[in-house]
Amino acid sequence: MCEATPSGGVVAAAPADGGRDGGFRVVVTGKGGVGKTSLTALIARLLARDGHRVLALDADPQMNLPHAIGLPEDRARALVPISQNRDYVQEKTGASSDAGWGLYFRLNPDATDAVERYAVDGPDGVQVMVMGTTVQPAAGCLCPENTLLAGVVEAMNLREREVILMDTQAGVEHFGRALAKGFRHALVVCDPTFNAVQVAVHAARLAADLGIPAVHLIANRVRDAREAERLEARIAAEGGFPFTSMHLLPYDDAVLAAEPSVTPLLADGGSPLLRAVDGILEVLARSEEEVRPCAS
Ligand SMILES: Nc1ncnc2c1ncn2[C@@H]1O[C@H](COP(=O)(O)OP(=O)(O)OP(=O)(O)O)[C@@H](O)[C@H]1O
Ligand SMILES: [Mg+2]
Repeated sequence: MCEATPSGGVVAAAPADGGRDGGFRVVVTGKGGVGKTSLTALIARLLARDGHRVLALDADPQMNLPHAIGLPEDRARALVPISQNRDYVQEKTGASSDAGWGLYFRLNPDATDAVERYAVDGPDGVQVMVMGTTVQPAAGCLCPENTLLAGVVEAMNLREREVILMDTQAGVEHFGRALAKGFRHALVVCDPTFNAVQVAVHAARLAADLGIPAVHLIANRVRDAREAERLEARIAAEGGFPFTSMHLLPYDDAVLAAEPSVTPLLADGGSPLLRAVDGILEVLARSEEEVRPCAS
């Protein structure tokens, strides 16, 4: 485990790929309720303020991300999830929507127009797109919706300073669907609880297996040094993981007070969480540099 401070930011590895054409993709994963959506929204807004062109992708069927990003209520509710647009699924995959989707559909749909057609502009210029519910009977489900969603992510060629941030459903199912393949960073979020740490270590291993080169631990809602120590001990007890970097984010009442949107947090500027998130931005931005490997 790398040494980390409450403001985070221990860089430890050199991700060499996962961000074609200069930009990079970040998947945010972890157990339910640990803060994935809040942190995705905060990071998206902060990267956008820092001059990045950010696409925030909501891959959680609950579709909370547009609210967290701070889209006005009516616009957030009016968003059409890609997977529920049957015409689009049919157009791109060739699957017929009569009597289910049938057995035959394109495995490599060309979804290069998805952002143009479905993303909406949010605060700070963050573009927001919702993927919607997919059929999930088993890991790796081969169905037109999943194929299309993978195609949507795959189709996005990123230029310099372009970032895709993907918020996911609780758990690790998206790794089974290989939706996060080709991502450069995985932000594995947990809180100090036993279950959250267990899921985090499992998710980190799956992310590494999927070839994601930089896997960061984001320990959220850490109240004090004792909790931080306990968390590290729990990671060690799970067999450890050579995280690229580790960030401790404080418990912050302002997050709850601000929800569902992170806009009030950003407006206030003085939130301890906000300051701590800076360490994550730094690591994401520095990811192409040569940096010292970290022992587990
Ligand atoms: N650092 C923090 N301090 C205090 N409260 C926090 C912090 N981070 C997140 N929260 C609160 O925790 C709750 C869960 O956060 P959030 O919805 O972002 O988690 P999630 O992992 O996306 O959940 P789900 O798995 O249901 O999608 C929210 O009420 C949020 O305001
Ligand atoms: Mg969420």
